[in-house]
Amino acid sequence: MKFKFLSTLALAVIAVQCAPKNDIIQENVENAKIQLKSLVEASEAGDTVRIPSTFKDGEIVYVPTDDWVSGFFAGTLWYMYELTGDEYWAEHARKHTEILDSIQYLKWHHDVGFMVYDSYGNGLRLKNIDGYKDVIVNTAKSLSTRFRPAAGVIQSWDADKGWQANNGWKCPVIIDNMMNLELLFKATEFSGDSTFADIAVSHADQTMKNHYRPDYSTYHVVDYDPETGEVRGRYTAQGYSDESAWARGQAWSLYGFTIMYRFTGDEKYLERAEKVAGFLFNNPNMPEDLVPYWDFDCPDIPDTYRDVSSAAIIASALYELYGMTENSLYKEKADKIVESLSSPAYRAEPGTNGGFILMHSVGSIPHGSSIDVPLNYADYYFLEALIRKGNIEKGLAPVK
Ligand code: GLY
Repeated sequence: MKFKFLSTLALAVIAVQCAPKNDIIQENVENAKIQLKSLVEASEAGDTVRIPSTFKDGEIVYVPTDDWVSGFFAGTLWYMYELTGDEYWAEHARKHTEILDSIQYLKWHHDVGFMVYDSYGNGLRLKNIDGYKDVIVNTAKSLSTRFRPAAGVIQSWDADKGWQANNGWKCPVIIDNMMNLELLFKATEFSGDSTFADIAVSHADQTMKNHYRPDYSTYHVVDYDPETGEVRGRYTAQGYSDESAWARGQAWSLYGFTIMYRFTGDEKYLERAEKVAGFLFNNPNMPEDLVPYWDFDCPDIPDTYRDVSSAAIIASALYELYGMTENSLYKEKADKIVESLSSPAYRAEPGTNGGFILMHSVGSIPHGSSIDVPLNYADYYFLEALIRKGNIEKGLAPVK
């Protein structure tokens, strides 16, 4: 055997090199197999399954189950199953999903949509596993405890805990919260209880009214008075300034209103998503490779960090938007992002980057955390974008 003395890694690298160069999806899948297998092995090497979030100073960083990013690695493994059909990925995806069992009862922050829908939601969609629907419905019940009827919104963060406790906020709502709404619609579908979908619509309508500037960029944080429903102020937590356009916030905004149109068919949500896309692509600070700087208004541009996670989220949302509108511009932009992220500028060499696929994301510059590193959610949305691209190119709907 010619390859007898080559390591598994070397063989896998050869597979990436031999993948047809004109098949960007297959080439990325071959690369992802190498990276993610090593992350699976590392995360399952101890007594308990751990959740990899990033790679810093030569070490994989693991997070507890109640961290907002805890569902992305499970979801990434489900996407690998979807992309390859290989049961290896489903087996490990299931392990990484079921360690999140207790999150269905978590009530102290809002991020359970990410945590449970990316893990259990994908597992249910791909394998129809018994009990997963119940987890989603229970999560929706927990999330609904954060709904503040007078303001018509789901409260994102508690105002008296953690770093946000010092801001004097009463009911902070962040644009990221739009990403919880998919889980609420699904919970209504599974339970027949329309309360969850009603909350989602109310939250989206209030966000549409209160979170946006005239140019359709979004504020990061809107603080409401939970008693009267009045807006108390508009701020940032992770952006450059209160009035700036934090890149990932713009990405959540695009993705969130695209989801709203998927579930309701209400044109006003589609219109909002398209306005957000317009803001992104007409912005003079959007780089040619379409990988945004971490904040569109950072005065240090171009001498500041890119945020690959924003690019991956935007690409995935644009494929869905293309499916809704058949506006080829959206697919062209998404394809360009995928092409950029597949280049050596952003995609790690096999066997490096701690096993994560993409480099150069930004968690939060104001908090000095996770700056210019791989992030598990960048990988998650990148694989999701590849799946959606593949579906479109096979003549299917982007989202199944
Ligand atoms: N949802 C938190 C973030 O986007 O950083």
